[in-house]
Amino acid sequence: MSIDVDVFIEDLKRENESFFTALPDDATQYWHTGMSRQDAIRALQVRWFNELRGVDIIGRFIGRVPDLTLKVLVGRQVGDEAKHAKVCRRRIEELGASVHDYQPTDEQLAFGDYLDTLIYPEEFFAAQQFTVETQSLKRNERALECFDPVTATMFREHINPDERFHVALGYLGLRTFARTTAAQQRARDAACRVRDIHSRMVFAHRAVEP
Ligand SMILES: [Fe+2]
Ligand SMILES: [Fe+2]
Repeated sequence: MSIDVDVFIEDLKRENESFFTALPDDATQYWHTGMSRQDAIRALQVRWFNELRGVDIIGRFIGRVPDLTLKVLVGRQVGDEAKHAKVCRRRIEELGASVHDYQPTDEQLAFGDYLDTLIYPEEFFAAQQFTVETQSLKRNERALECFDPVTATMFREHINPDERFHVALGYLGLRTFARTTAAQQRARDAACRVRDIHSRMVFAHRAVEP
């Protein structure tokens, strides 16, 4: 018998928290205070790539969401991610660099490839919105202390409020679709797998020199 969906969501939230809090800092964040201009450019290029690829991956996911209201909300998320890619690119250019020479890491590509394999809506919502966006939310708050004031303002005004909506969408997606034992198991497996893939990606960002 499936457990109550709200109990399931709370359990999954706890599992995610205990995984990420047990990791060393450099597997959960790749920004640090007092970054040089070069460090900031590199961090923004990584972010730009993830936002831009998110547009395509989350856009494809809309086709796998069997509920019109949720399709509309995921569509709104896609629009947000496109805006994030644009503001990151603009800031990179203001800092005197470009996105053209940016080469994504293998771990970055593997992360997106994995999301594209998730067929069931509860899997995708568990992995992307519920797990990854929650981590992203914590990193975004750190942006305010790690980046220069202009970049920090960009995060505060144009990125962070949207990412809070994306996390809420993860809860709504799970509440809608993770209602059977099989669906809850799929959602839990996807969250577990993406935790591992995502932390490898963050660690790789940290390890790559600009
Ligand atoms: Fe974003
Ligand atoms: Fe997002």
